[in-house]
Amino acid sequence: MWAAMSPERLDHTIRVAELVSEWADAMLIHDSERNRWLRAAWLHDALRDAPEAELAEWASSTPGPVELKHGPASAARAKAEGEIDRGVLDAVRYHSLGLAEWDMVGRVLYCADYLEPGRKFLQEERADLAARLPTDMSGVLREVARARIVHSIRSGWTLPEPTVRFWNSLVASRPAS
Ligand SMILES: [Fe+2]
Ligand SMILES: [Fe+2]
Repeated sequence: MWAAMSPERLDHTIRVAELVSEWADAMLIHDSERNRWLRAAWLHDALRDAPEAELAEWASSTPGPVELKHGPASAARAKAEGEIDRGVLDAVRYHSLGLAEWDMVGRVLYCADYLEPGRKFLQEERADLAARLPTDMSGVLREVARARIVHSIRSGWTLPEPTVRFWNSLVASRPAS
């Protein structure tokens, strides 16, 4: 296996895969789609702990810190290893940013990455959202995006263009509340 993950990262990845699996069960998702969700879960942080040179090699067109490089690098590597599903690759590539054009795989991964139970913050709120997702996918996705983007803004970070388009796509079709 070509992944470079610390034991903690692997535990996180396992929890993301488990959550995705639970949702697929609750939503009666058929096996081939469930398989796409699981591939994205397993791949998304595959190069998160890779040496900088390896990240630079696989994400040569993505500037910035490792937090922004590991998605594109993991997707590029997965593609080189034979993953051809565009939805899975886009889910992995943009999992730190969001993408307006995502299909279900990207949306599910983005939510599971944030809602998996091992993260230490907002445990009750996140557990409630995780439980609600199978019956309110778009509502939960919007809440997860809101929380993640507000965190970026509070941290004083710039919002990458795909993130802005992603947020706008989530709220465009819906009356202001
Ligand atoms: Fe990640
Ligand atoms: Fe992750």
